Order: sequence, then structure tokens, then C-alpha cells
Amino acid sequence: MKTMSSAEVREAFVDFFEEMGHRPIASSSLVPADDPTLLFVNAGMVQFKDVFLGIDKRDYSRATTSQKCMRVSGKHNDLENVGPSPRHHTFFEMLGNFSFGDYFKRDAIKYAYTLLTEVYELPADRLVFTVYENDDEAYSAWTDELGVDPKRVARMGPDTNFWQMADTGPCGPTSEIHWDKSPELGEDEIILKLQAEDDRFLEIWNLVFMQFNRQQADPEHSGQWDLPLPAPGVDTGMGLERIVSIMQGVEANYKTDLFTPIIARTQELTGHSDAERDANIVPYRVIADHIRAAVFLISDGVYPGAKGRAAIPRIVIRRAARFGSKIGFDRPFLADVADAVFAVMGDYFSELLVDAENIKRVITLEEERFHRTMDRGLNELDEMLAALKAGGRLSGADAFYLKATLGLPFQVTKDVAEERGFAVDEAGFASAEAEHALISGGGQAMGAIESGEFYRQLLADLQAAGELSSSGVDYAPYSDTPVDTTVLALVQDGARLESAIVGETVEVILAKTQFYAEAGGQISDAGTIAGDAWAIDVVEMKRPLSGLIAHVGEVVEGNPAVGAKATASLDVARRKDIIRNHTATHLLHAALRNNLGKHVQQRGSLVAPDRLRFESRRMS
Ligand code: ALA
Repeated sequence: MKTMSSAEVREAFVDFFEEMGHRPIASSSLVPADDPTLLFVNAGMVQFKDVFLGIDKRDYSRATTSQKCMRVSGKHNDLENVGPSPRHHTFFEMLGNFSFGDYFKRDAIKYAYTLLTEVYELPADRLVFTVYENDDEAYSAWTDELGVDPKRVARMGPDTNFWQMADTGPCGPTSEIHWDKSPELGEDEIILKLQAEDDRFLEIWNLVFMQFNRQQADPEHSGQWDLPLPAPGVDTGMGLERIVSIMQGVEANYKTDLFTPIIARTQELTGHSDAERDANIVPYRVIADHIRAAVFLISDGVYPGAKGRAAIPRIVIRRAARFGSKIGFDRPFLADVADAVFAVMGDYFSELLVDAENIKRVITLEEERFHRTMDRGLNELDEMLAALKAGGRLSGADAFYLKATLGLPFQVTKDVAEERGFAVDEAGFASAEAEHALISGGGQAMGAIESGEFYRQLLADLQAAGELSSSGVDYAPYSDTPVDTTVLALVQDGARLESAIVGETVEVILAKTQFYAEAGGQISDAGTIAGDAWAIDVVEMKRPLSGLIAHVGEVVEGNPAVGAKATASLDVARRKDIIRNHTATHLLHAALRNNLGKHVQQRGSLVAPDRLRFESRRMS
């Protein structure tokens, strides 16, 4: 069998379909455009969803992509399998070809077979096939038109052979192509084993015949909410990592050239021998998978945070850091491993290279946050587990406390508990979390007008209570020494909170502040606000109306509450850099006027700690 590198496998796929009249299209972002049904893009067809539905029209009817995908939530969630499994990933690439009202089942099947047997040169006697139970057209495309022995084609039910992107949306019956790992076992039991989803076969390619638009979730597969699509189409998906493992003759995706440089980089950092690495393969796999996910998420603008999409980079970075600590890393190391991801993936996804330094910075910041709280979180978890009876269950309230007060992600609590033979009450955790969201009033979105009204009311309330004077917050931005003051209010998503938990982003109103709030192009100060066993990293300032100044930041430790005593400290070095760049802007302005003439007028500028920008009128 021939061997190909991952780059060659990807390129041969796209080239083949281009020759067959398909337009090569770039992968879309991992963040779906305007699609509330989905957290992340989880398949190649997502960027074409509206084309399948007939809402969007393109100037091509055939396309091919290698799409970035994440499967970490909802219908397609592989997070927990990463590590123990040699083949599961959170982030992966899906190769696909698409027909929008153009060709249908017969051509889709013929293209797939031709690519596998003639371009990749896989032996036909290692391939077996499934079709949807009553799909005679697909069955005959394999058996009559391509001459595949009927012993190698299984009819299967909706659990395996009906694909849907989410509970609602485009869907249809499928035909799958599987790789036979043990052809020596003969042909007689192929159908039975496929139907039993036996380990002997590895699914490599899913051909979906898009026919319906599902209007409502339909767990019973009754089909009653499936309306026909305006034009049937084809959506196929082949995991790049998997087909590469076959082309490289290795039994695990992690042994392909997509992962070995990442694992080798980690090994260089641990100094492990190959035998030590293999004895610790689970942490190595988790790190290799999760660092890819973190790099691609941040590159697509999803930064670590407490809620929604932002929770995912946080979980993967913290989970990787926790597994890293099992193999001896006691300080941030993931940015070093990320270099290997840039080396492997940067050729095809060149956007990674442009943003590499920023991506590494964000990863390290998140790891540092984790290290600050992890020891305490893991120690308390140890104590909780020690108090349980063998085989017992950690309560949801305890798991929530670990997350809310000590920043230990639920997934990490669960990993640790399970490693020691304990269960965790997941439903209890979910309801503790929901209860907090309810109490804190989180999740309410507001329009601009309502938000103006909200802050006016907040200011009026604080003044009426005598907490602020008629001029509002005592604003002293010319000092850089720490200020002792009081937390007057905490705000999140346009609602007041009594207290906040680790990982949440909040706006903090203090009675007094020396933090500069952006005005006239000089950017805001950053720093920390800390009190008794709690701390907030301030990353941004807001002045929603005159007299009200809010520090926007993330709770990194403990539970800050309204009324608490607080000390606000600037990042003084950063402030000094900003001042230097501010002075430089004035110098630049003067020099331009001296050398080019008085007509040079400053129209705008940006003054940040690491750069300045000077804007002038065009001189023509
Ligand atoms: N959309 C199909 C899948 O993800 C091809 O398997």
C-alpha cells in the first residue's frame, strides 16, 4: 500500500474533487455564523446549511473543503473520550464533498470509491459498506454499479445510518465506508459484525444524502417532522486524522504525522524516554488533542472565559494543564507545545502563524490562572473524596463549590473522581449551576437603550444610598499607588449581582478608583482588585455614563461580594509604557509639523502599552 503524508492526503482529496468539477472552498471559522442551534461547527456541511435549505444561493453547485470541526457539546460530543481512546478528538478536520441539487447517491458513491481505490490506492478487499435499511438505490449503486459483493454491504437502522446536524435542520439517510482491520477473518460474517458495530471495522467516510429539513427533535426517528428539502443534495465527511492513520499504517490517530511532532515536543519538555512516554500515553494524548483545540479556538477569536463558547478553551487548556501536572509539569508549558501545532498546521491554516504570539500568550495566561487556584482546588477535592465511602458519589453542590470558588472545571473534578473510582452527581451539579445563574440574574441580554437606563438607575441608587456623592465615583487617575476602597456594585449582562464566582466576567463599581478609563485614544489601565480571599483581574475599563466607572475583569479567586473591602492596584509597568507612548505621539506630531509643515494635523491616535498610531489628514 502506498504511504502519504497528512498534507498529501488532504491535497489529493481536494484536487480529486476539483477535477470532478467541485469548487475548493476554505474552511469556515469554528464559530458558526448566526446559528443558535450549534455551539461550534461540527461538520463540513455547517457553512452550507442555508444552501441545502435553499435559503442561500451560490454560484457553484459542487464544493469541496477540509473543514475545522469541534465536537465538544450537544449531539456530537467527544470530550470525555479524549485520552483513553486512540481515535477520539475534540478538534479535528473533516474532508468533504458537497452537491447542492446537483448529483445524488450514485455519483457520490462512485466518487468516494474511486478516490479511495484509485487515488489513495486502498485495496478494495479492505473496504466494506453500509446503507440505510430501505435505501435500495444506494444498495444497488454499491452492488450493481460498482460490483461490490453483497456480502460486504450491510443495511442498517437510523441510529447509525441517518445523519442530522443538530436536533433540527438538514438531515438524511447515509451510506458509510468502513475499513476492515482483520480481512483474514473472511467475508461471511461481515454484515452481522457491521450490524453489531464490531471493533473489526473502522468507519472512515460518511456519505449523507441530504433530503429533509427536520422541524422538531425526533428521538424516535418517526420522520414525522421531516419536510423535503427544495433539492436533494450530498454532504460527505471523512475525518482527516483517521484516513491518515490508514494511509500511514498506524493503529492510532496519535501516531500519524499530524500528532507525532506535538507528542515529540511534549516529550522533549518532560525528558521522558519512549517507554516512559508510552506508559503515560493518556496525558500525552490529552495534551496533544487539547492544545490543537485551544490553538484553533483562540485563532478563531474564542478566548477562555466562564460561559458559553468561552468555557470550551478554558476547559481544554485546564484539562491539558491538569494532565500535564501528572507528567511533571508544575508551571505553564502549553505555549511551548503550541509551537509544534504551528509547525504541523501552519502551512494549510496560515492564519495561525499570523496570530501565533497572541495565541501563545492567551494560553499561558489561562494556564497561570489555573495554577494559581488548582492546588487548592485539587487539595479540597482530595479531602472530599477521602471522606466518601468506596465507590461513593461526590455531590453536585461540592463539585459546584470547587468550580465556583476555586476554579476547578467540572470536567477536571470528574476526571479525578473517576480515576479514584468515585462518581459525581452531574445532575446535581447542573442544578447548582442553574440556581446560581438564576440568583445572579445572568444571561439577560439588553439593548443599548435599556442598558443606558440600567446604569442611570444604578448611579441614582448608589447616590440615594449615600454611597456615591453627586459627582459619582471618586476618580483619581493621576495616581498610581494602590487604593483602598469598597465594592459598591457588581454587574453582569446588565443585571446586578450580590456576589460572583471564579471564572465569571463582571463589572466592578468601586467607591474610588485610580484606573484610567479610555478616552481620546489612550487605552484603559489594567490591574487587579483584591479583597479577603478573592481577586479580580481587570482587563478593561468602561464609563457607561458620566460619574460611573466600571472595572471589567474576571474573578480569578474566591467570591467577591457587594460591600466587601477592596484594594485596587494598577499594573504600573503597563501604565508607564502607555505614558511613554503618549509622549511619543506628541513628539511625533511636533516632528511631522517641523519637517513637513504646519498643515500636518492630528486626526486621531491610539496609545497602547506596546504601540502607538498617529492619524493625520491626507496631504494631497
Ligand atoms: N455531515 C456528515 C458527518 O459529519 C458527513 O458525518
